Amino acid sequence: MVHKPVLVEEVIDNLNLQSGDVVVDCTVGAGGHSLKMLQHIAPAGRLIGIDQDRDILKIASENLKHYKDNIDLLYGNFKDIDSLLKSIGIKRVDAVLYDLGVSSLQLDTPERGFSFKSDGPLDMRMDKAAAISAFDLVNNLPRYELRKILSRYGQERYAGKIANLIVEKRKIAPIESTAVLSHIAAEAYPYRARFTRIHPATRIFQALRIAVNSELDNLETSLDKAVNILNTQGRLGVIAFHSLEDRIIKNTFKRYASEQLVKIITKKPIRPENKEIADNPRARSARLRVAEKVKV
Ligand SMILES: C[S@@+](CC[C@H](N)C(=O)[O-])C[C@H]1O[C@@H](n2cnc3c(N)ncnc32)[C@H](O)[C@@H]1O
Repeated sequence: MVHKPVLVEEVIDNLNLQSGDVVVDCTVGAGGHSLKMLQHIAPAGRLIGIDQDRDILKIASENLKHYKDNIDLLYGNFKDIDSLLKSIGIKRVDAVLYDLGVSSLQLDTPERGFSFKSDGPLDMRMDKAAAISAFDLVNNLPRYELRKILSRYGQERYAGKIANLIVEKRKIAPIESTAVLSHIAAEAYPYRARFTRIHPATRIFQALRIAVNSELDNLETSLDKAVNILNTQGRLGVIAFHSLEDRIIKNTFKRYASEQLVKIITKKPIRPENKEIADNPRARSARLRVAEKVKV
């Protein structure tokens, strides 16, 4: 099980890293981007890697052990980037990176419940200590809230039908597994729409994952803090994997630019080359946007 980092060269080219820089990888994961960044800031630089998944931090620690004197790996949510950095005495940094979404390591572990492609418990929490799982949402939310989540975060055309069927099925027995939910999605779809390129469960799983992990709220909170802790000419890079995230990043960067806080470096998002997509299908929807801090 490996996680291939996406747009690595593009991240390095655009973050403008210098030897000795202090950088934050808000989504350290298995450490793919961090490793590259460390190669550019070592030997004097320092990298702070944040992740809300304790299991993944152990993998990052192993993968980055060559640079153990240059790294601090912190368990926590990037929405708390300010207090996490404060806890190790850091006030300002030269670059902040986000590579959003789940890691392949999480996606490919059936017990984490992120994927409809293998059977597992309906979980989807990136932080195993979080209070609410996908099971809780699917089995307890009122129909209209389920529908709202599926429609807003999944942009799911059949959100109403799926929410209705979930509510019907859970009266008989709790919906406990990814396989059962995936079947419900397929059953709620009109017959002809069930066999298209995109599996009927795709958008529901995306929607529930976003809701369980409060992904969009956390991103907005974190960006506002990250832009404040950047040094002048420090760069903020964000890789998004779906249009909801990308819209937030685009609009947030525009707002910062209008407040003369940043200069936008990527007028259009940077997308992976065909070769990268062929090597790593997960890169297909990746979009990188970068902004540079203008004044502290
Ligand atoms: C796409 S992976 C990052 C992969 C990493 N760039 C690499 O090269 O291995 C996203 C990681 O971010 C973490 N994550 C997502 N949202 C987070 C949040 N709000 N706070 C902290 N970590 C988060 C996930 O647990 C996951 O490990």
